[in-house]
Amino acid sequence: MNSFPFGSGRPDPESFPNRGLAEAAMRILPELGDELALYPGNLGFEPMRRLMSQRFEKREGVPLPPEQIALTTGSMQAVTLMAQAFVDSPGDVILMEEFSYSGTIGAYKQEGAELVGIPLDENGMRMDALEKTIDELGNAGRKPKFIYALVTYQNPTGSIMPIDRRLDLLDIAGRHQIPVVEDHCYADTVYEDCHEPALYTLEHECPVVHIESLSKILGPGVRMGYLAAPQPLLNEILKFRRDGGASTLSAAIVYEYFREQLWDHVGNINTIVKEKRDLMFHMLADSPDVFEWFSKPKGGLFIWVKLTDGVDRSALSSLAESRNIDYASGSAFHVRGEDVPFIRLAFGYSSLDQIREGIPLLADCVRQCRIAS
Ligand SMILES: Cc1ncc(COP(=O)(O)O)c(C=O)c1O
Repeated sequence: MNSFPFGSGRPDPESFPNRGLAEAAMRILPELGDELALYPGNLGFEPMRRLMSQRFEKREGVPLPPEQIALTTGSMQAVTLMAQAFVDSPGDVILMEEFSYSGTIGAYKQEGAELVGIPLDENGMRMDALEKTIDELGNAGRKPKFIYALVTYQNPTGSIMPIDRRLDLLDIAGRHQIPVVEDHCYADTVYEDCHEPALYTLEHECPVVHIESLSKILGPGVRMGYLAAPQPLLNEILKFRRDGGASTLSAAIVYEYFREQLWDHVGNINTIVKEKRDLMFHMLADSPDVFEWFSKPKGGLFIWVKLTDGVDRSALSSLAESRNIDYASGSAFHVRGEDVPFIRLAFGYSSLDQIREGIPLLADCVRQCRIAS
């Protein structure tokens, strides 16, 4: 039976440059000297940090000194380090979009934080709700440890926050002196021209930590991510790091491949994934009786789909699984795990044929799981 992998946020597998990386490894490993006999240290392989600094400057038009970058094992290590560094006691509050990345929700709960969700709309986290929540917490004598924000191609909703709201976010955080953690891991997965500047590049009076990843433009198997923060904040965070540093082997090979190929690769993978996004929308639109969507994301890897009223979500999950259709349930992305009438469909990893065949099959499953009224 065919399978339909619409569950997890992985990039296009065909564009993974196996051969290019193998050739890069052959070129660079003999040149590394004794680097692989050493621990990488807190910041990691310097040429890779320089390359990521250039990546940032090309996209954002603002320099990011390599000394402010620390390579991590995927961006998830950076995300987790934030809670390890900022959460002191169980029940310390972290603010985040009401719907956010399931991995972050799990990690922060495990670190003992209490997650407080801020409602969001198609422009991201709502600032009226943020201000109100901070005030209410303040009245109860509680100050959030940080705001975790996915302002660019939000996971799961795909929203991108416009500049005015970004400035408002930094203004609110600055007035209350609450650090902001900007998880920017989808920043280069772009299908339409819609750039908004990273929070890190805007004037701010609160600490801002910026997180990026290579998982979404290359592959999660390489486990490369990084965080950026100015000193002394960077060292404060890195005190919690206990792994000896991010793999020099991975960093060196990826660096050698990307130093000439980065933007060609990004352009190529985005062209491929854009076609998949467009096709998935086209197929969803063929079943307006069962699917609605939150927005048409201009970047990222997901469509946040609202199921029309009266669908038995537990029956849907079993029926879809029996037909090898994988999707992510909305509850996984709700800060309190509420069972919401949404599913998240990822379009990066599946082939065009899987999308063409799988979305009508999923629509059929939804129809079969309607609760008779
Ligand atoms: C918002 C967000 N942050 C972080 C991650 C972790 O990615 P990685 O550790 O592979 O860089 C993901 C993965 O899906 C994500 O969606």
